[in-house]
Amino acid sequence: MEQQHTSGKDISIEINDSVYCYNDIGIGTVPVIFIHGFPFDKSSWQPQMEFLKNTLRVISYDIRGFGKSTGAMEVVSMGLFADDLIALMDKLQIVKAIVCGLSMGGYILLNAIQRYPDRFEAIVLCDTQCQADTPEGIENRNQTISKIISGSKTTWASEFIKKCFHPETLNKNRNIVERQWDIIVTTTTSSLTETLRALAKRNEACTRLQEINIPCMIINGSDDLIISSEKAEFLKDNIRLSTLQFIENAGHLSNLDQPETFNRLLLDFLNSLNVNPSVDMTNENPSTVDRK
Ligand code: MLT
Repeated sequence: MEQQHTSGKDISIEINDSVYCYNDIGIGTVPVIFIHGFPFDKSSWQPQMEFLKNTLRVISYDIRGFGKSTGAMEVVSMGLFADDLIALMDKLQIVKAIVCGLSMGGYILLNAIQRYPDRFEAIVLCDTQCQADTPEGIENRNQTISKIISGSKTTWASEFIKKCFHPETLNKNRNIVERQWDIIVTTTTSSLTETLRALAKRNEACTRLQEINIPCMIINGSDDLIISSEKAEFLKDNIRLSTLQFIENAGHLSNLDQPETFNRLLLDFLNSLNVNPSVDMTNENPSTVDRK
């Protein structure tokens, strides 16, 4: 009998020396796990969790050092974040999952799928890329680190947040923008700076894209200022079983700029996989799963 996961509350578990905080809601044979981008937390997936929780088991978690998850930060790398994902899956006894990662969440996912290909049923890569940082990109990260260390975290957060959202959201949905800004400024300096160093050092994942042999949906905001449409097209051209969807009037945080379009694309993709046959995937009959 499948276990039903109905608590929308934060759950914390200790694995090795880290504490992982996550939400685990709904029911389904293969869960969907969401990985957030830098420097946000699991709450950035709330519109998707709310939308899918009546039809699937959905899990979002805070990456080490972000939100309510803790752990040593001086050692972080995309590889370690990927190991954390697998450790969480092990702890929750999840053999295989459908995993959706946005931006840095996508870098982590691409790292994990290279090393643990059997743990994934399908993947969703949102507003992300396989390329490593260019020398100019590394220089920008170093300047950001200096700014944060010298006490200008809030100034940097205000500049960065403008690059994350579509202008329409920036003008009309201030509460969504401010919520993400708050998350950035309440993240510790060491989490920000150590993760920036890890981002600057990350390896490219492009040369191994052809090893990916499971369904993959790529989503990119048409107006993403951080990840260009060429980067998304490169992923599409090199991942065999992939589709690419651009979302109009969406920037880097495409799932927050256009949640309805994003959710529809996600649901269509999940329906096409047919991996949770015991569950009504149409999302039109919420009574199939207890709502709490
Ligand atoms: C993110 O949203 O995760 C970051 O913008 C990724 C990056 O800086 O490369």
